[in-house]
Parts: sequence; C-alpha cells; structure tokens
Amino acid sequence: MADFLCPAVNFIGKGTVAEVGPRAAMFGTKALIVCDGFLAKLEDGPVAKVKDSLAASGVKFAIYDGVEPNPKDTNVAAGLKIYKAEKCDIIVTVGGGSSHDCGKGIGIAATHDGDLYKDYAGIEMLTNELPPIIAVNTTAGTASEVTRHCVITNTKEKVKFVIVSWRNLPKVSINDPELMVAKPAGLTAATGMDALTHAVECYVTKDANPATDAVAIHAIKLIGKFLRRAVANGADIEAREGMAYGSLLAGMAFNNAGLGYVHAMAHQLGGLLDMPHGIANAVLLPHIERYNLMVNPEKFADIAVALGENINGLGKMEAAEKAIDAIVRLSMDVGIPQHLAELGVKESDIQQMAEMAMRDGNAGTNPRVGKLADIVQLFKNAM
Ligand SMILES: [Fe+2]
Repeated sequence: MADFLCPAVNFIGKGTVAEVGPRAAMFGTKALIVCDGFLAKLEDGPVAKVKDSLAASGVKFAIYDGVEPNPKDTNVAAGLKIYKAEKCDIIVTVGGGSSHDCGKGIGIAATHDGDLYKDYAGIEMLTNELPPIIAVNTTAGTASEVTRHCVITNTKEKVKFVIVSWRNLPKVSINDPELMVAKPAGLTAATGMDALTHAVECYVTKDANPATDAVAIHAIKLIGKFLRRAVANGADIEAREGMAYGSLLAGMAFNNAGLGYVHAMAHQLGGLLDMPHGIANAVLLPHIERYNLMVNPEKFADIAVALGENINGLGKMEAAEKAIDAIVRLSMDVGIPQHLAELGVKESDIQQMAEMAMRDGNAGTNPRVGKLADIVQLFKNAM
C-alpha cells in the first residue's frame, strides 16, 4: 500500500510570494506571521513582501519573530500567546524549516489540549483540524513547506521530537527563488545537503514506491546539477530555482516514503548539541549509505548516475559505491566539514545519542536493520 500526500496548492517560481495575500483572504481575516528576527528586520526582504501582499488583499496580521534554529517548545509557546491575544485565524510561516515547524507547532497547540511532546509526538496522534497554514519558503532544504512533519526541540530533555500527521500539511506552499538569493553560501550548502539527504534516504527506504522514486531521483539530479552553482553565486536565479524544485520534489518523496538512520542520528546532534540540521545530515550521509549499500546496490547505482557518475563496465557493487564518492565530492565542494569531531562531538556523547536515534521515528524505515552497536559504530565512523 502506498499513499501520497502534499499540499493542495503549491506555487513555484519568481514573484509567487505575491500569492500570499489572495490565498490568505480565502481562509480568514487575520494572519500570524511566524519568522525569525533576522528576516523580520530585512528591508524589502521576504517578510516585508509577505506583509505587503497581505495588506494589499485586506488581510490583517500580527507577527511572532522569535523562531530559533532547531525550533524550541518555548518558541511555540511564545507564538501561541500572540496567536491567541491577536485573535488570528491563519498562520503564515516565512523562512526555512524552523519557521514552518514552529508555525505547525503553534497550529497544533492552538487546537489541541495537553503537551505537544507527551501527548502528540509520533505518527497520526493529532485529532483536530489546524488553522490554515500558508508556508512561504526561503531556503531550498527542509521542504517542511510541503510535509506532514513537525520537528520541535524539547528544551527540558534536550531532545528533538517529531509530530507526523496529515493535519500538519500546509494548505498552500510558496517557493519563490527571488526570496532565496540573499541566503549566505554556507547556509545554501547546508540546506542543500539536507535536501540531498532527503532524496537519497527516501529513494532507498523500505517504503519507497514508484511515485516517490520518480520524484526522488529527479530531485537528486537537480541538486547534483544546481547546488554548486547556488553556493558559488547566490544571485544565480536559475540555480536557485533548480534547487527550489529539487528540495520540493525531495520533500514530496520523503513526506510519503520516509527517511532513515541519517535523520534519526542527525536529530540527536541537533537536540543534544544544537548542530545545524543540514550539516549534521551532510556529515553522516556517506557513512550511513555505505552501510546501506548492500541492501539495494541497483538503486545506489541509479543515484550515482543521477549525480553524473559514469558506471559503464563496473560491477554491481562498484557502481553502487560511485554514489558514495559523488556524495562526498559534492559535500566537500560546497564546503561542508567532513568529521563530527571537528564540530564539537565527543566520543562520550555517542552512546546516549545512539540509544535515542534507535527510538527516533525515522529509524524504522532505514533499509538495513541495525542494532544499537551498529548505530554506535556509524557515529564513530563519522567522527
Ligand atoms: Fe531534513
């Protein structure tokens, strides 16, 4: 059995940020804009453009601009307070995955009693409809603008938890490459490698199906073609648009086929050490996929070809290994560190992170079934 979920309406292309206002007016009268402090202050930046579009359509708005990277339960609580005090009925998230996940969290908290972590972490635990969410995306990476995933950090227990539900799906996603040109090279690289990780993990996952395979492999092609260009020149609008499509397609794929150990392990690096999500994924990706290689070498050979490798005349495993070579080369070209140790991870952190990774919702769909000792070893390999 397979299901395939994505938002009902997805705008992609230059100038599509202007669709926010008209769409919001179809849903309600007052929007809570959810973003970070940096975007909120940018003159003529994405938030300013969203405000202009809402105003032009006669939609009132309030703003919560306190979203942090790896969004926290405290961010959700602060945003909820404003949502209620201002009597909002729409949520417009502006930014990358942190803003979208925080906005989903606010939507859940506005419509569900109890505690997000204790009562709703897991799969399909939500019982009520969320306020309509319009997700305006400014990074080509997490694809949270098109997914049912909401990842929040529990600040007391220092753990990331995931609320997976079809109710989290934004009603409208907007990917306007002109909103992405100001993103610094380092962030472009990290979020781009997150997108590549989504596409690779879900192409080989246990729940992959022909629909998810079709979009995942094309996402890998686009990211392989455009990520270096987007990092080299942020104003390269064709590269930005290529990455926007790559990220979106990867999101549509993993939203339905799931992920694997890379994300299960990266979430622990984010929760325990606040490591940027894209960096954590990029460092782990070659190690976990080398471990997964023997489950389905044909699919890894597809990945190698999608990333531009020549596999003519190679044996099955040799061709598959080309995928790992290509991933490492791309990661190094865009300037990603290659070792966890240089990012502040200590050997003494590994046991606890490995135990938590085994319990992460993404572990269950990894193609190769590992034991705790395997996860410990994979963390060590990445050190
Ligand atoms: Fe991710």
